[in-house]
Amino acid sequence: MQALPGFRDFLPDDCAARNYIFARWREVARRYGFVEWDGPILEPTELYTKKSGAEIVDQLFNFTDKGEREVALRPELTPTLARVIAAHEREFKKPLKWFSIGRFFRHEKQQRGRLREHFQLNCDIVGEVSPSADGELIAVCIDVLRSFGLTAADFVIRISSRAAWESFLQEKRGLQGYASGQLQHLLSVVDKMERQPDVKTNEQLARFDVTAVDVRQWIAEWNQKIFEKNSVAGNTALALLHTTLHEYLLPRGLLDYIAVDFGIVRGLAYYTDVVFEAFDRSSKLRALAGGGRYDGLVSQLSDGASKMPAVGFAMGDVVLGELINETSAASEQMQKAIETAGKIDIYIVIAKEERRADALAHVQTLRDKDYRVDYPFTSEKVARQFQTAEQLSARLAVLFGDEWPQVAVKDLTTGEQQLISNQELLAYLARSLSLSS
Ligand code: HAM
Repeated sequence: MQALPGFRDFLPDDCAARNYIFARWREVARRYGFVEWDGPILEPTELYTKKSGAEIVDQLFNFTDKGEREVALRPELTPTLARVIAAHEREFKKPLKWFSIGRFFRHEKQQRGRLREHFQLNCDIVGEVSPSADGELIAVCIDVLRSFGLTAADFVIRISSRAAWESFLQEKRGLQGYASGQLQHLLSVVDKMERQPDVKTNEQLARFDVTAVDVRQWIAEWNQKIFEKNSVAGNTALALLHTTLHEYLLPRGLLDYIAVDFGIVRGLAYYTDVVFEAFDRSSKLRALAGGGRYDGLVSQLSDGASKMPAVGFAMGDVVLGELINETSAASEQMQKAIETAGKIDIYIVIAKEERRADALAHVQTLRDKDYRVDYPFTSEKVARQFQTAEQLSARLAVLFGDEWPQVAVKDLTTGEQQLISNQELLAYLARSLSLSS
């Protein structure tokens, strides 16, 4: 029997790769002062039907539970975060900087970079309206990617603003622009434009009286506006985006990682202002990460009781893994981590069964000292035990046999062997391992 389509088995090397990714995610998020939190895997379906937008609702793994509740496996974390903030807002000093690493489920068509179960790092800043928070968040996204050995030659953050889109459309269409439902629909078509043929896009755009060619022309025209002084000065949303870039990212030396691109609008319904997505430079792969500002979501979930501005992003493990594998420096760095994860420090060779008790006593002491130690469960030929030691990439083998109360310590890299009295073993191993590390 196989795993379900879009679900993965994680064999030890896959798990080591996953742990490597999680370790970098956690390390960089903490470096930025984010604290870790988590929510439940199962939520009321309503949390998503109301807030996430049509696309994600079509992809829900949902069912009726034994208590007749409509429930869904979480497809994303943001609605849970908004629910938790709405309920616990008073308990925490704002702004909050929270991160989370967890598993998510979307019933998508399985394709390269998109599975039905994936992991995400979510980083969110809640309770801060200043674009300074947007800058901090984009910086953490860049630094997370850099921690894998990826550079500005490997990835780019494409940044845009939904509020600017709205204001540009108003200019194009006269004062009314589009009603909010219509605007949401238009943006969801634009979000998919790059991944589908124009014929399909044109069908979906027909009700707005525009074509894919028109929209691409708008995007090219708007991409220039950020460089025009007058446009920036006359447009609050564009000025905010400009500020985020020039006041909060330029001083950190991070502009090389960024491209203003109004082709990015994001598929999720709750974004209000700056939005961004991270892609591989050659745009071969799906998005590595995506996020933006969602200033209305907490308020909607608390029926207006709590107005909490928020900005966040999520990065998935699937596309990130693909990009790491395709980038030689990054994949070497990951391979090293995978190899180290499988390694042990010391293999205890039991050459004489009478010595098993003495060997086990040392196994225990060494493990108490945090060394990674293994030994054979039952009697085995000595040559076989050395083979196992090599397969486990042990650095040292310690042989308990006829020489007792002395033991033979063999350095498995150099092949050198030394007889040591068992009382001195601990100090000797500590010295040898620190020299060879
Ligand atoms: P999203 O763009 O839907 O945003 O997902 C974020 C990232 O998760 C994507 O860029 C992608 O790397 C990964 N991802 C999403 N779906 C799949 C899938 N089916 N298979 C593999 N990877 C996938 C959100 O989820 C927002 N809640 C992010 C956010 C946090 N916004 C504010 N705070």
